[in-house]
Amino acid sequence: MKRILVTGGTGFIGSHTVVELLQAGDYEVDIVDNLANSKETVIDDIEKITGKRPNFYKQDLLEEDKLRDLFRERDYESVIHFAGLKAVGESVEKPLEYYENNLLSTLNILKCMKEFGTNRMVFSSSATVYGDRDNVALTEDMQTGIGITNPYGRTKFMIEEILKDFCVSDNTKQAVILRYFNPIGNHESGLIGEDPNGIPNNLMPIIMRVSQGRIPELSVYGDDYDTPDGTCIRDYIHVVDLAKGHLAALEKTEGAGVFIYNLGTGKGTSVKEMIIAFEEASGKALPHKIAARRAGDLPAIFANVSKAENELGWKATHTVADAMRDTIKFLNKE
Ligand code: WQD
Repeated sequence: MKRILVTGGTGFIGSHTVVELLQAGDYEVDIVDNLANSKETVIDDIEKITGKRPNFYKQDLLEEDKLRDLFRERDYESVIHFAGLKAVGESVEKPLEYYENNLLSTLNILKCMKEFGTNRMVFSSSATVYGDRDNVALTEDMQTGIGITNPYGRTKFMIEEILKDFCVSDNTKQAVILRYFNPIGNHESGLIGEDPNGIPNNLMPIIMRVSQGRIPELSVYGDDYDTPDGTCIRDYIHVVDLAKGHLAALEKTEGAGVFIYNLGTGKGTSVKEMIIAFEEASGKALPHKIAARRAGDLPAIFANVSKAENELGWKATHTVADAMRDTIKFLNKE
């Protein structure tokens, strides 16, 4: 059994990845999470789904000594690093918190990896590193870091650069950088899903709260973009496909150095189309209105996904309709 450290493993994408790791059967999973944006009960839900319970350590990655103790004791084969602050708007208001948390926690992990001989990190990156490119299928060889509109996106870009330098400095180390597009949906059991603490920023958790009556209506941030129906287009990927992409990254990447992959569907869906898809799944109208554009939004962002398919043998299989169906199950659980 390979022992994997999953940071942020009680979060939305982390928990779904832990489910896939435990169901694959080859892995023992330790989760480190400070529960800043998740709940400890997710561990129980993971056990209900898989019949296996990951080890859970409630600690903050900024506590370097506690992290060193963990690495010394547990001797990890690999790290999957999800933990980080991830609200775009909040990062503009609190840049120092974002730089300190996202960068220092990563540096602490990398120092532990070097000291204790853990040779691989799979890193949760984001399509935001591509900056202000619009309406082009994004490929991994494109320049990144230009035109990023927020500190959150810049932390992801900076960490990618840190990982490249780290692997150049130590030829035993491997970094697999996975650039996510827009994760949606949840496990088909409806037991785990996107349930952020506080006020969500992303489209789907807001749609979920509108459907629950916790938010009166969805504000569509602009319908005057240069797109077929005037609303912004994004590449929405089912979180189970995204989780399986992490397993493929762990199992298919060989050798030291840096490997970079887009994890998306390669297809674009507009906000209006997302509303229609949710209404079809829920069987009822979703209250919404057209509002002003949101600063920093680009009209159309979607992935070219051929590299992950060719090199990892991975391809997203779920549709937006599948994600909406699963979202309804998660809503009914609550
Ligand atoms: C999607 C679309 C909005 C809310 C961000 C990060 C990215 C990743 C995913 C972490 C946009 C529209 C939204 C609302 C709306 N996060 N919208 N009304 O901005 O594509 O990407 O989240 O990795 O890094 O940049 O996602 O879900 O915020 O917005 O009309 O109340 O929905 O304008 O077109 P985004 P989003």
